[in-house]
Amino acid sequence: MQTATSRTEVPEEISAVNLVDPRTYLEHDMDAYWRRLRADHPLYWHPPVDGNPGFWVVSRYADVMALYRDNQRLTSEKGNVLVTLLAGGDSAAGQMLAVTDGRRHKDLRNVMLKAFSPRALSKVAALVRANARRMIADAVRRGEGDFAAEVASVIPLTTVGGLLGVPVKDHAYLLGLTKSSLSSDEADQAPEEAFLARNEILLYFSDLVAERRADPQDDVITTLTRSEIDGVPLTDQDIVFNCYSLILGGDETSRLTMIDSLYTLSREPEQWKRLKEGSVTLESATEETLRWATPAMNFGRTALVDVEIAGGTIKAGDVVTLWNTSANRDESVFDHPYVLDLGRTPNKHITFGYGPHFCLGAYLARVEVKEMLDALRTFTRGVELTGEPRRIHSNLMTGMSTLPVRFLPDEAGLATADS
Ligand code: HEM
Repeated sequence: MQTATSRTEVPEEISAVNLVDPRTYLEHDMDAYWRRLRADHPLYWHPPVDGNPGFWVVSRYADVMALYRDNQRLTSEKGNVLVTLLAGGDSAAGQMLAVTDGRRHKDLRNVMLKAFSPRALSKVAALVRANARRMIADAVRRGEGDFAAEVASVIPLTTVGGLLGVPVKDHAYLLGLTKSSLSSDEADQAPEEAFLARNEILLYFSDLVAERRADPQDDVITTLTRSEIDGVPLTDQDIVFNCYSLILGGDETSRLTMIDSLYTLSREPEQWKRLKEGSVTLESATEETLRWATPAMNFGRTALVDVEIAGGTIKAGDVVTLWNTSANRDESVFDHPYVLDLGRTPNKHITFGYGPHFCLGAYLARVEVKEMLDALRTFTRGVELTGEPRRIHSNLMTGMSTLPVRFLPDEAGLATADS
């Protein structure tokens, strides 16, 4: 087995796959591609394409973990997603948690964690449960519909919106913006549209921060307006960038996971039966659902010094991408990784990343998925697809933007819906 790879010596079927182009993920057998990279080219130099610089691709679980953990020799401050990494930086570096490192990252993360107090989280978790039960019961009573639009789009934004204190009347407006700022339902969305959508979100939060300073409420934005690091209050810009990151980080990822899990359950009757009958716990079903979906395919870093990994060297200044989507199917860690097993234990998936930048919203995301699965197994006897789902176009996220389904109601379960 080859462990190191030169920058160019890979077979044509590997080098022909352009990981920067969102269409690639719809057109290629990516499972086969990742299996091949894990086996033969665990550190692969993706050549420059379409005017973008080249970058390293790391695909094995152990290597991905090692690099996530290392915020000394690798930095997120030059971007943590392909679009910013390849452009050479992120304008929110040093202010937005995900693209801040060192002491400032630690301090900012502590401030944010305080805002995510158990009291704040338990309030939001109760809201998620109530929302999931109500929305799924309504969808099941209607019988047919688009699960993506009617349920999976609403729950995550309501969750993060509830945490931040975004008024309910603005949720639909923000949802429209977040949808076009990260990925796209359409292959030909212009990059300017995503840029404009991101700016609109920032402007929206600037106004909300000003409102909360004038009229404090019991929410995360108000908590952040009162927070300090080394005696210096957070600036409006600090708060705005981090609200933006919570909305973006918390919305699409959770939405895609929910859509994927219903899609998967509709195609896996044996696993659905295990969930419905209660022969697997909601917790293990939630973890396997998260591993299976892996909505955030990759994150990345820039090397500050030479880093040895997977039998090769990432040179100082090089961009390296860490592929969760591959690590979560690594056969040296997961038994039968391409089999969905809702009872899988242990299940140390890497869906939320690892190390210092481990997902701040993992608890909430887990609550969302768990409550969704619980409501589904209570209110339905099963679900059938009524059309082809539409896949999103992105080199960061994977999943579907529509999911037309028909529910088979469980009348006894539905009778408990309003209790
Ligand atoms: C970080 C995935 C839900 C907020 C991350 C990272 C991953 C991730 C992989 C690490 C990024 C890196 O290392 O560069 C996911 C997935 C989710 C989810 C798959 C849902 C299934 C959420 C939610 C929120 C959130 C609900 C907010 C309420 C954040 C934030 C960070 C982050 C603020 C940056 C943490 C830091 O840099 O210290 N997420 N996330 N995420 N996530 Fe999530």
